[in-house]
Amino acid sequence: MAQTLEIRDLRVRVEGKEILKGVTLTVRPGETHALMGPNGSGKSTLSYTLMGHPKYEVVDGDILLNGESLLELSPDERARRGLFLAMQYPVSVPGVTLYTFLRTAASAMRGYGETARRNGDQRLHAHLIPAREFRQEVNAEISKLKMDQTFLNRYLNEGFSGGEKKRAEILQMALLKPRIAILDETDSGLDIDALRIVSEGVNHLQTELGMGLLVITHYQRLLNYIHPEHVHIFYNGRVVHSAGPELGEKLEAQGYDWVQAEFGV
Ligand SMILES: Nc1ncnc2c1ncn2[C@@H]1O[C@H](COP(=O)(O)OP(=O)(O)OP(=O)(O)O)[C@@H](O)[C@H]1O
Ligand SMILES: [Mg+2]
Repeated sequence: MAQTLEIRDLRVRVEGKEILKGVTLTVRPGETHALMGPNGSGKSTLSYTLMGHPKYEVVDGDILLNGESLLELSPDERARRGLFLAMQYPVSVPGVTLYTFLRTAASAMRGYGETARRNGDQRLHAHLIPAREFRQEVNAEISKLKMDQTFLNRYLNEGFSGGEKKRAEILQMALLKPRIAILDETDSGLDIDALRIVSEGVNHLQTELGMGLLVITHYQRLLNYIHPEHVHIFYNGRVVHSAGPELGEKLEAQGYDWVQAEFGV
């Protein structure tokens, strides 16, 4: 089912300091929104807060998915409802292979194991998606992203190059099939070919799933592949201006100096 993400006047504190100062933004199914803003303006803070990172304290406002508040939900409950974050700095997990991680996450998302037992669904009673079935699915996705199969046997992100980590995030997204995806600087570190391959993957998924996309980026180059209908300027903890795709080009050409003068922020 398609989902609408609604962020209402969100205020967030980190380590006692207010970072988000009233963010309001709505992402509807199939829409692409780009969020652009200077370093340290709070974009990643927003993405972590949306996923429910415990360090980020919501002091006011709300986050709604199809009208339901997410604030009381844990990150995995948010994920099950269709929210996905491709992190700016994906973490390494030594000891857990990429394959095991993907299979565990996809199984949980599709209701295998605990959920199935609770619901008395015999078919999904097993803890994990059958190995052969999942292998086929993963192989298909991994070749679309032009990743080497050997990555599956490596520990999650351990020793992955910057670009390899970003591809692994999109591989995860392809298997989890979210309804709303937040991509936090997924373009950073990708080489020119990888940028195109990853963008095509994202576009394909968006068409297939009717996914809403919130794309955080510093550069227009990504927006040449993933075409946003809406571009927002994020400045000092909130959205100060929203416009169409031409805004991305203006920012690329002029930077952020004019923003302060024009919007008094
Ligand atoms: N866990 C934390 N502890 C202390 N300060 C934090 C924490 N998380 C974020 N901040 C601060 O909040 C501010 C916003 O950081 P954030 O990472 O959200 O910025 P950003 O817009 O994503 O920047 P960039 O474009 O560089 O990725 C920064 O000043 C940062 O130092
Ligand atoms: Mg960031």
